[in-house]
Amino acid sequence: MTSPQALLELAVAVAAEAGRMLVDERPAGLEVETKSSPTDVVTQMDKAAERLIVERIRAERPGDAFLGEEGGEQGGEGAGVRWVIDPIDGTVNYLYDLPDWAVSVAAEVDGTAVAGAVVLPRRGETFTAVEGGGALLHTASGVRELRVNTGVPLDRALVATGFGYGADRRAHQAAVLTGVLPNIRDIRRGGSACVDLCALAAGRVDAYFERGVQAWDVAAGALIVAEAGGRTGGLHGAPVSPEFAIAAAPDLFGALHDLLAPLDPAHD
Ligand code: IPD
Repeated sequence: MTSPQALLELAVAVAAEAGRMLVDERPAGLEVETKSSPTDVVTQMDKAAERLIVERIRAERPGDAFLGEEGGEQGGEGAGVRWVIDPIDGTVNYLYDLPDWAVSVAAEVDGTAVAGAVVLPRRGETFTAVEGGGALLHTASGVRELRVNTGVPLDRALVATGFGYGADRRAHQAAVLTGVLPNIRDIRRGGSACVDLCALAAGRVDAYFERGVQAWDVAAGALIVAEAGGRTGGLHGAPVSPEFAIAAAPDLFGALHDLLAPLDPAHD
């Protein structure tokens, strides 16, 4: 195993290279294929970016394992490090040329993220964290430490969320929102779970919740939130999972959880 800092440096390097490629080589006509539903899309650029990231990491660390949004689980039986990759989180934003999409790369050791990088090429922002080392935002004008907002009561909280791609899931999520909206400041739906988590870490929103996110959507972002002083978890003490994800300052987490739990009982 290498130090978390060294894993972070590799994560940043490969995410930044993939991000540049996604901007510089974005074709006028993207080839769009659908996945779980007609609105769940993947482009040739998602696949190319994930291939590039895996190739670069493999060249440096041949024994490591991978979990990628497009390539699934790859290699590394008994590997010390698993890389969790979303080559474009916010694919629909990328498709429409909206700026809020990101390359998300996390390094996990024994199932725990120890380093994470989220690169937003169109915003010129890179969010990073190593376990126990804090969370940082790097831009052309410098580097700053990230802290979640604290002391925000639920009825003043600006809350980010996202929606799944299936029609039934969305109908359920819309019903949950009718119970959430009257109790908070407002909702933001930015279109990328990892960007939402980085926004929370940077104090641009106060909380985030979503049903249905996958490990690649949140592995790096959840570490960045935790290292910025936030709390992440699922419902009723569960960890973050595709079942449910909540993230907020520790003093807001409980109130948001208690609002959501009765509104969103187990649902596919
Ligand atoms: C999606 C985005 C979106 C969230 C969805 C994710 P993708 O990831 O993060 O914000 O609401 O749940 O699937 O498909 O753009 O990688």
